[in-house]
Amino acid sequence: MQLEPATDIPVRLSVNGEKRELTVEARRSLADVLRRELGLTGTRVGCETGVCGTCTVLADGDPIRSCLTLAASADGTSVETVESLAAGGRLSALQKALADHFGLQCGFCTPGFLMLATALVRAGGPPDRERIREHLAANLCRCTGYTPIVDAVESVLRDAA
Ligand code: FES
Ligand code: FES
Repeated sequence: MQLEPATDIPVRLSVNGEKRELTVEARRSLADVLRRELGLTGTRVGCETGVCGTCTVLADGDPIRSCLTLAASADGTSVETVESLAAGGRLSALQKALADHFGLQCGFCTPGFLMLATALVRAGGPPDRERIREHLAANLCRCTGYTPIVDAVESVLRDAA
């Protein structure tokens, strides 16, 4: 049996505000393309099965698992990765709060949590801990016990209220 060659697909994305045009194999994930083609290695890949959330990026403002998203299916979307957060070299309020509250240890999960929490902070609303916990439950952290991450997000929501 002869295998068919992988199909290449043209993809247009806005990545961190920059227009990018790429040709990608149909089977490649968005996480893989962000990391290998665009050099945005801040997006981490852990489980690659949609469980851990460390690959979370924003697509048109919504958190998505970039390991489960085919790059081809992201055509036309506006993607934001963790590299977009420290505009002009200054940490975002959330990045600063995470550091101030010791909300990271090994840091592997941190880019995913930052992007997930950024969506919540942008949505605004009350700094309710249950609401924050529910939102952050999409991602896993093996180091912090979650409480300092919730503290950090709560402080940013409180400051913005
Ligand atoms: Fe994507 Fe774990 S690497 S959910
Ligand atoms: Fe290590 Fe979250 S800080 S997995």
